[in-house]
Amino acid sequence: MTIERTLSIIKPDATARNITGKIISKFEDAGLRVVAQKRVHWSQAQAEKFYEVHKERPFYGDLVAFMTEAPISIQVLEGEGAIAKNREVMGATNPEDAAPGTVRAEFAENIERNSVHGSDSAENAAIEIALCFDEAEIVG
Ligand code: CMP
Repeated sequence: MTIERTLSIIKPDATARNITGKIISKFEDAGLRVVAQKRVHWSQAQAEKFYEVHKERPFYGDLVAFMTEAPISIQVLEGEGAIAKNREVMGATNPEDAAPGTVRAEFAENIERNSVHGSDSAENAAIEIALCFDEAEIVG
């Protein structure tokens, strides 16, 4: 295993319920380290850019509206196999399929309002981290 970095977002449904700390605890308990973090309220243009890869999907408009309805908390998580580990802790995209104890099983409201986002590959992690943070904001 190599040390990786991945991008994590705690979404508006979760920031609104004041459970960012509970979610971060799950990442830290799994051995992931928060090496960058910010709380922001995305504009429509920022959300559209971040989710550009999904722009042809039927849920794109709703997803952009959801991601701009309230603040989000964005992290860079670092650790051994961080990309896969983060996805394991998050659980399946649809909370109905998420394993017990995962973030989405415990906190997600539905497939769209699913509390967290995590990069799905090393390539996307690098793209998403660069989109959200300056190199100087990432401090291990
Ligand atoms: P995320 O990991 O942020 O990546 C894309 C997001 O689109 C996903 O989590 C969900 O919040 C949202 N989404 C809404 N509907 C769907 C769907 N049918 N399939 C996948 N993702 C969906």
